[in-house]
Amino acid sequence: MILPIVGYGHPTLKKKAKPITPDYPELEELLENMFETMYNALGVGLAAPQVNLPIRIFVVDGSELEGDGEDMTGFKKVFINPEKIEETGPEWTFEEGCLSIPDIRENVRRPGDIRLRYFDENFHEITEEFGGMKARIIQHEYDHLEGVLFTDHISQLRRSMLKGRLSKISKGDISVDYPMKFPHKK
Ligand code: NI
Repeated sequence: MILPIVGYGHPTLKKKAKPITPDYPELEELLENMFETMYNALGVGLAAPQVNLPIRIFVVDGSELEGDGEDMTGFKKVFINPEKIEETGPEWTFEEGCLSIPDIRENVRRPGDIRLRYFDENFHEITEEFGGMKARIIQHEYDHLEGVLFTDHISQLRRSMLKGRLSKISKGDISVDYPMKFPHKK
């Protein structure tokens, strides 16, 4: 089932998401729905707060991306209750977008690598380090669980330049090819 994605300005996007327990109701179905929602919107990552659930889950599938000399094969994953251990490596800039902020892309600087502890879809605990594009996708989605959007990483000046467009998104005054819920739609 395709779930509506909440747009910029929605309160759930600003909340710190809560961990879940293995008995979380219909977890398997939720994960399926999150993948379906992400594929339908042509995204490579989707976090639960984006479908209005303030819980610590995100899914990624970057397996179709052309990594810059990087093997993206099999990079389809579920992250449950992830906790960041550390971010290391030189910072690099990449133009990020977000399914909750359609049509806006901005350069964001982040460290090259991230190490985190998480549970997979079978609630097996894993500690793993990611670099390159994989790290970038994970860092962006992890931020969603902390109530942080990529627009929080850009300069004050850039943000004020985007203010009008962001306000339009929150009012649903945009055309988008996937179901969305807008916080200030009249
Ligand atoms: Ni996003």
